[in-house]
Amino acid sequence: MKTLLTIAAVSALLVLGGCEKKSTRKTCRMDFNTSTPPQKPTRAQMQAELQRLRSLLSGPCSPACCETYITEVINKGSDVLQYPSSPMDPGFAAEEDAPAIAAFTVTLSGKKSPHPERVQTGSLLFAGNCAGCHGSDGKGNRGAFPDLTLPELKGMTLRKRKMAERVRELEKTLAD
Ligand code: HEC
Repeated sequence: MKTLLTIAAVSALLVLGGCEKKSTRKTCRMDFNTSTPPQKPTRAQMQAELQRLRSLLSGPCSPACCETYITEVINKGSDVLQYPSSPMDPGFAAEEDAPAIAAFTVTLSGKKSPHPERVQTGSLLFAGNCAGCHGSDGKGNRGAFPDLTLPELKGMTLRKRKMAERVRELEKTLAD
């Protein structure tokens, strides 16, 4: 049971975060895929994980990671923010349209999408699939829905908080 819990904790960790030093990377370094839980980590793996988490926590979320996060929310839904209208069901847009919508959505907070060629299509799809709730300006219809124009989306802030918890946990385990 204990091992199972460890595996669950480690796999949960893999979906956390998505924040890294200011970067123009086109892809997100975080692994959002939890389908294959890793084995119990060795000391060296824990040290590597700690280093990676510290670097991810040291800067703002990269646009690439924001895109990955938004794509995940579109495809899998979201229930972590506890809005009165919560949860957001998955599938308000087709999976193949999600990357373009995510590319447009990151521009709402003034970021540059790493995929500028997707933004225009994304903006049309956003208007058709998302604006009904989040507003055509993405501001969330006066608090009724999450504001997608924030520099850091709330779900990402939650993930960062969990990453920080994991950092403390790793530091403690490694110090023992
Ligand atoms: C029926 C209303 C509705 C529609 C349509 C909708 N959303 Fe949402 N969305 C929500 C709600 C409610 C939440 C908060 C859910 C929760 O509590 O976690 C949310 C959360 C989100 C979040 C997380 C925000 C954060 O601060 O972390 C993103 C990103 C998002 N939506 C993007 C989209 C996109 C893109 C579309 C269009 C494909 C879309 N939503 C369509 C209601 C909607």
